[in-house]
Amino acid sequence: MSTRNDPRRFGRVAVLMGGTSSEREVSLNSGKNVLDALRARGVDAVAVDGVPALLSGLQQQAYDRVFNILHGNKGGGEDGVVQGLLEAYAIPVTGSSVLGTALAMDKIRSKQIWLALGLPTPRYAQLSPGDDVRAAAQQLGLPVIVKPACEGSSVGISRVFVLDDLQQAVKLAACYPGELLMEQLIVGAEYTVGILADSALPSIRIVPAGEYYDYHAKYLANDTQYVCPGLDNSAAEAQMRALALHAFTALGCSGWGRVDVMRDHAGNNWLLEVNTAPGMTSHSLVPKAAQAIGIDFDTLCWRILEMTLVGEAS
Ligand SMILES: Nc1ncnc2c1ncn2[C@@H]1O[C@H](COP(=O)(O)OP(=O)(O)O)[C@@H](O)[C@H]1O
Ligand SMILES: [Mg+2]
Repeated sequence: MSTRNDPRRFGRVAVLMGGTSSEREVSLNSGKNVLDALRARGVDAVAVDGVPALLSGLQQQAYDRVFNILHGNKGGGEDGVVQGLLEAYAIPVTGSSVLGTALAMDKIRSKQIWLALGLPTPRYAQLSPGDDVRAAAQQLGLPVIVKPACEGSSVGISRVFVLDDLQQAVKLAACYPGELLMEQLIVGAEYTVGILADSALPSIRIVPAGEYYDYHAKYLANDTQYVCPGLDNSAAEAQMRALALHAFTALGCSGWGRVDVMRDHAGNNWLLEVNTAPGMTSHSLVPKAAQAIGIDFDTLCWRILEMTLVGEAS
């Protein structure tokens, strides 16, 4: 076996999953798939559920590197907290650094960076307690979408078509910790673009059977359609991939991830958000996009893990 394919290069790998965020169940599901894939390739991988368990393993020097598949914030693995902990222990981890994960978790700061760079993202208003939300909605122009700034999996999100529904949408989003934002609703088609190393994977067009890509469509429904590559026109497809990669690197992200994009009927692309530890379930999108260019699930996991070796002697 060449050194390159030798799974012993990785040492003992903690597959970090579960945790306490609203996306715990999804993460456990992703984590089990990753664990099975790495073990199938002979990697010495162990499951670790949540940050306290990770910490005790680190204190016992139990791991050489971490495959992070914790989703979400606050004890999740997508907001810089786990990345900072691992950096302090000098343990390599898959995916983005402290900066990239923290910025990508925060939809408001992500948009601010994109806007500063002239990248397209829907116009928005940050909502603070006591703000006149009706005036904010009128200024953006209905319809709008209201969302918590730091959640995932479409939780706490509502679309608002009439002003009378606004209070209810704000109340729902405010059930989640952190700031809220209201964004112009883009009417058109929904896309997502996986990123692997320095390139964008083929885009996927998501066609939910219901009205939009809500929690049910993401994880439970079997009637959501996925079209990959998402755009028939190769110039438009290349443009979407280039935009996604630019948006990803602009936030300081690296390794792998997924960029969510809306495309309006006039053919304009609008950046929604970046996910730095996207799902790896059977419904998940990065594995589908990788498959479309011949990268199977086990190889995808191996490639993501392999990037943690950069800078180490082989
Ligand atoms: N500005 C928008 N216009 C149209 N649809 C949106 C907009 N923002 C979000 N959505 C819909 O809500 C879903 C979830 O929003 P997103 O910003 O990706 O948050 P998350 O996936 O972290 O919950 C998207 O996949 C899309 O279907
Ligand atoms: Mg999303």
